[in-house]
Amino acid sequence: MTAAALVRRAERARARARAPYSNFKVGAALETRRGRVFTGCNIENSTYGLTVCAERVAVWKALSEGGSGFRRIAVVADSARLTPPCGACRQILWEYCGDIEVILSNLDGARASHRLADLFPSPFDDRFLKQ
Ligand code: THU
Repeated sequence: MTAAALVRRAERARARARAPYSNFKVGAALETRRGRVFTGCNIENSTYGLTVCAERVAVWKALSEGGSGFRRIAVVADSARLTPPCGACRQILWEYCGDIEVILSNLDGARASHRLADLFPSPFDDRFLKQ
């Protein structure tokens, strides 16, 4: 799948966001090395704190459906400055996907690509638990 096609999948997932409190809709599309795609959108809650980001919804769906070997994730929001994964999502992405490519895009077609290791330097992970 091309990067543009993966971004389109994230865009379509974004349309299903439940974001009545922030009005900030986000979509994500997580691709495996074998080409499976798992999408997610942010789902807010009236308690606010129980909100789950689009990226984590995509990861939870992927893991619960047997996905593994992740290659990249596309994240789409309607923001002039491209929206990167929040800190909690970076931790989860690092844990389950490793140093994947993170493609950021907005609805105007602006796009950027990062390695997760650059967005999330000096992570705490299982290596610390095994020393
Ligand atoms: N949000 C995401 O879903 N992903 C991000 O990368 C940043 C923030 C959501 C959480 C919340 O529903 C809304 O955007 C505003 O923070």
